[in-house]
Amino acid sequence: MQQQLAQLVATAQAESKSVTNRAEMEAFKARVVGPNGSLTAAMKGMATLSKEERPIVGKLINEAKKSVEEILAALLTKIEDAEIGSALGTPLDPTLTGNETPAGFIHPLSRTREKILNTFKKLGFTIAEGPEIETEWHCFDALNTPADHPARDMQDTLYLPKSFRSVDAPRRGEEALVLRTHTSSVQIRTLLNRKPPFRIVAPGRCFRRDAVDATHSANFHQIEGLWIDHQVTLADLRGILDFFVKETFGADAEIRLRPSYFPFTEPSFEMDLRSPNLGRLSNRWIEIMGCGLVDPKVLELCGLNPNEYSGLAFGLGLERITMLVHGIDDIRHFYNNDLRFLRQFA
Ligand code: DAH
Repeated sequence: MQQQLAQLVATAQAESKSVTNRAEMEAFKARVVGPNGSLTAAMKGMATLSKEERPIVGKLINEAKKSVEEILAALLTKIEDAEIGSALGTPLDPTLTGNETPAGFIHPLSRTREKILNTFKKLGFTIAEGPEIETEWHCFDALNTPADHPARDMQDTLYLPKSFRSVDAPRRGEEALVLRTHTSSVQIRTLLNRKPPFRIVAPGRCFRRDAVDATHSANFHQIEGLWIDHQVTLADLRGILDFFVKETFGADAEIRLRPSYFPFTEPSFEMDLRSPNLGRLSNRWIEIMGCGLVDPKVLELCGLNPNEYSGLAFGLGLERITMLVHGIDDIRHFYNNDLRFLRQFA
């Protein structure tokens, strides 16, 4: 019996070699495990055995059955591979490496943004956000911007149609909705929603009705900063901006605050940067952001008592900083998605 089963397995093994497609496999399977198959016949033979013989032969039959199952499984794999091979036009080679999926990399603007945000996190700032579609009040009025200020001009600001509704920035009455022209509107949203003291940085996209050229884009990015506390001073402003500039441009970088005007700060400054590591711009004063102490009027408009609280604010252009850091000469490179440009920052 043992010999007979060994023979049966050997025959199945040999026969399986000549099977090349599914139809042949079905016929082969029937010859071995079908109702009239060789293994089935051997199993039926068990009935004629004595009680003592049965467990011994049963064990042998189980082993034979297992071998036959392995032969059938191997056969199925062989046939499936052949089917895939013929569908592909070449035989399947499972040792080939797959198609290369290129790994992505971070856009230079995102990378600079993360670096700047991390710098301010070290100084205890947290991140705040506000909507890109903003009410005229948040974008201008609450920032103490007079009704006739040129920034509100249709030449500069993109207004939404009167019929437009925004979930993030519900309009009051006939108030206009705009695409925010700066992230300073997030100052207002934070002042209204959080109880001081706090320090926030707000990165975001801004929009202006600018003709696009090497240094202007109708769509650009800013990072706003706001620190509200008791007795915030110009020394605090200088200190954090100096730290920011050294982290971003190196320990040799210096800053200069030049008096300027913004409706929402008093006093207001342009901050200039000078660094020996800026290629052809080295050792020149370069204007990189606006800043100042928060105008008491803004605090009042947001329901805070200016005798109790004071603050500092600043706003910088992300594109400008990134262009300076990397010596990029045209803002349009950031948005063209040309991999030859982007790969340089991978
Ligand atoms: N919002 C100004 C702009 O877009 C930049 C700015 C200036 C922001 C002074 C500030 C600030 O927070 O204090 O030109």
